[in-house]
Amino acid sequence: MVNRRTMLAATASLLAARGTSAQDVKATRSFPAGFLWGAATAGHQVEGNNVASDLWLLEQVKPTVFAEPSGDAVNSFALWPRDMDLAKGIGLNSYRFSIEWSRIEPEPGQFSLAMLDHYKAMIEGCRERGLAPIVTFSHFTAPRWFAARGGWLNRDAPALFAAYCERAARHLSKGIAYALTFNEPNLMRLLRSVGLPQPVQALQREMLAAAARATGTPRFVSANAANFDDVDGMLPVMIAAHQAARVAIKSARGDLPVGLSLAMFDDQAVGDPTARDRARKDLYSDWLEVAKRDDFFGVQNYEPARYDANGRLPPPPGAKLNWNGAEVYAPSLAGAVRYAHEVTQVPILVTEHGVGTDDDTLRCELIPTALAELRKVMDAGVPVRGYVHWSLLDNFEWIFGFKPRYGLVSVDRKTFARTAKPSASVLGAIARRNGL
Ligand code: IFM
Repeated sequence: MVNRRTMLAATASLLAARGTSAQDVKATRSFPAGFLWGAATAGHQVEGNNVASDLWLLEQVKPTVFAEPSGDAVNSFALWPRDMDLAKGIGLNSYRFSIEWSRIEPEPGQFSLAMLDHYKAMIEGCRERGLAPIVTFSHFTAPRWFAARGGWLNRDAPALFAAYCERAARHLSKGIAYALTFNEPNLMRLLRSVGLPQPVQALQREMLAAAARATGTPRFVSANAANFDDVDGMLPVMIAAHQAARVAIKSARGDLPVGLSLAMFDDQAVGDPTARDRARKDLYSDWLEVAKRDDFFGVQNYEPARYDANGRLPPPPGAKLNWNGAEVYAPSLAGAVRYAHEVTQVPILVTEHGVGTDDDTLRCELIPTALAELRKVMDAGVPVRGYVHWSLLDNFEWIFGFKPRYGLVSVDRKTFARTAKPSASVLGAIARRNGL
């Protein structure tokens, strides 16, 4: 049996052979002071009963692409103090969550002070527990009235979004550590590149038409359940909305770091890089250009994407897979971070990383391995401010309903009891010692 002493002796001789001292290793395996260790959620996915939002309607109309409605979700609208206690108990020092535009501005121009106070209490709740609040102003959902006015295809969308951000920031910005305007505004481009099956696209079209009829409008447009024909038209509007929102948030608090996050693969060329480079241009280039003028950039990575000259390749034989067959490859986070920084040159915050799986051992392996690779990229000079795991809780995974499980913590959907998984202790131990 290999005991601790044998292990230490083996490690020492390995280091000596490589000319590395134990001190060097300690230095590279610990993270900078003040590094943020967090877990994330998003309002619509955890709060429940987000009834004035665009997605609530899309879940209810017939037909719908949603496997099931969000309903009570995991009742975090009421149970957020318990969620924050969990995050703190795990050993984390930050919590990422989103504020729901449709609760704050349920009708155009009518802002709810009660809801603003609700989110203010959450920000203060974070601070009381030593959790730095990372707050997303739009995590896919928007008010139903906004989608019914053409959503992110409406010329007025940037002004409407900025007005909400300005009002929310005036009430909330004091305690926020990092603000994100948008979460993954490139998601639809990513889905388009992967190519949803035709029947799903047709169903989505019918669902949006049903929502338009229900709201008596010609066009109902939402951020993460959009027709592919609309995706290119949404891009300049969302970019303008991000820029206007950034100015609006800064007008409330100039020193608050503001940025956005993108869904990013770790794109790798196998031989000819043409297809890889084309994919990068389509998926990220406009947004990365915008992010150059932000205070930080949020990387959200779950998988690699390998391309040969003809396009994307399937996962290699024997690869570990997530719940829907995507490859789980620990170095992919570091690869995405390296590329994002190479292009933007701004500090990076890992705002999401994780794996959807029923097998928590996969998550337990992934976290330290991915972080060791991330640490190497930091050693090479990439400024990474923190690592936020998706997700704190098993939750509502959009059109797939509650089946995919991304949480460090599982939730009983009848009692709403929360139970930490072993992976929560794995991440917590790393966070507590601020090192691997
Ligand atoms: O659940 C989502 C989240 O809302 C955005 N990023 C990816 C996660 C897992 O699919």
